Amino acid sequence: MKAAIIGISGYTGRILLRLLAQHPEIKTIVPVSRSKAGKKIIDVDSGFNKQVDFKMNPTKGFCIALEKATGMDFDVVFAALPHLKSAKHLRPFIGKAVIVDLSADFRIKDVAVFKQAYGVEPPRADLLDKAVYGLCEWYGDEIKKKDIIANPGCYPTSCLLALLPLVKEELLEDKIIINSISGISGAGKKVQENLLFCERTENCGAYLPGKMHRHTPEIQNELKNINPRMDVFFTPHLAPLKRGIATTITAELKGNNVKADVTRVFNQYYKKEPFICLRGDIIPQTGDVWGSNRCDLGWYVEGNTLFIFSVIDNLVKGASGQAVQNMNIRFGLDQTMGLKTTAV
Ligand SMILES: NC(=O)c1ccc[n+]([C@@H]2O[C@H](COP(=O)([O-])OP(=O)(O)OC[C@H]3O[C@@H](n4cnc5c(N)ncnc54)[C@H](OP(=O)(O)O)[C@@H]3O)[C@@H](O)[C@H]2O)c1
Repeated sequence: MKAAIIGISGYTGRILLRLLAQHPEIKTIVPVSRSKAGKKIIDVDSGFNKQVDFKMNPTKGFCIALEKATGMDFDVVFAALPHLKSAKHLRPFIGKAVIVDLSADFRIKDVAVFKQAYGVEPPRADLLDKAVYGLCEWYGDEIKKKDIIANPGCYPTSCLLALLPLVKEELLEDKIIINSISGISGAGKKVQENLLFCERTENCGAYLPGKMHRHTPEIQNELKNINPRMDVFFTPHLAPLKRGIATTITAELKGNNVKADVTRVFNQYYKKEPFICLRGDIIPQTGDVWGSNRCDLGWYVEGNTLFIFSVIDNLVKGASGQAVQNMNIRFGLDQTMGLKTTAV
């Protein structure tokens, strides 16, 4: 299979490159970059293994500009670009290759909800019906049939994998409180004062609480598709970590439901899922999943109150790993191909 990655120099672009370089079904990779066009990939990513340079035959191991890539044929095109830029850059490939977009441009089908989150209408509202929300464990059947896959956001992945089974089985009251802690790479590679080492090291705190963060509508939208009354209160935090998301969800159990019901439902939905690790009483830590495509879930009940603990690597299950999992599902490959289930 032949793949292009647009936005190779960013955090998620780099992880995609490393994953695809070792993916047995990917024979050709074309690295596309605005800032690194003309540079050898080995000079862009010094962690890259030269031995897989042969996969970049068409460009002889060089990054190329988007204009050059538009004349080429691909089976799959990954976009690792900022939201509201991605759909525009993908234009030449739509209808010709399977698209896996890591940005938010195709994630929310409701134009008003997208506008609430991003301040403008979705850049390609005309294509939203052709796209699937690529939360692999939930939309696998649809992912197999669609040519535009909207890879979910990192916070939403950690929250929705924990919540969807319980909301679907009507175990939870409508109000959900979510606190998530993220590593700094979640903000991307951009230079920004509040992301500088001296601002972030030995420093941790909340930002954009309640409905302010762009991922709140994305989380809420998925839950409301099941139960329109669900209401989410989401508070993200930044911690001085490079990678990882640790999410703690607090919700009230409905009626007579107890911990055993939560355990039963998680097992019913996830027992056979290779990337969901059910830890029960153990509270998972970000280090448990570092570098893997896993989401680990732990849970605890006090009275009627349920606590769920969910951890992922934001750059793998929260982004590039899930993108590769989506590609695997779409092309009928084993969904684990080229992905790690063990932390590094
Ligand atoms: N970081 C995460 O944990 C994470 C998780 C889930 C989803 N995402 C989403 O994935 C996408 C990429 O995130 P990231 O963290 O990899 O971002 P990033 O580190 O900031 O990289 C984005 C890359 O896009 C290209 N780019 C930047 N501005 C551009 C513009 N105006 N027009 C065209 N290209 C531009 C650049 O690559 P070139 O110069 O090489 O073209 C840049 O390195 C975003 O939409 C983000 O929201 C990120």
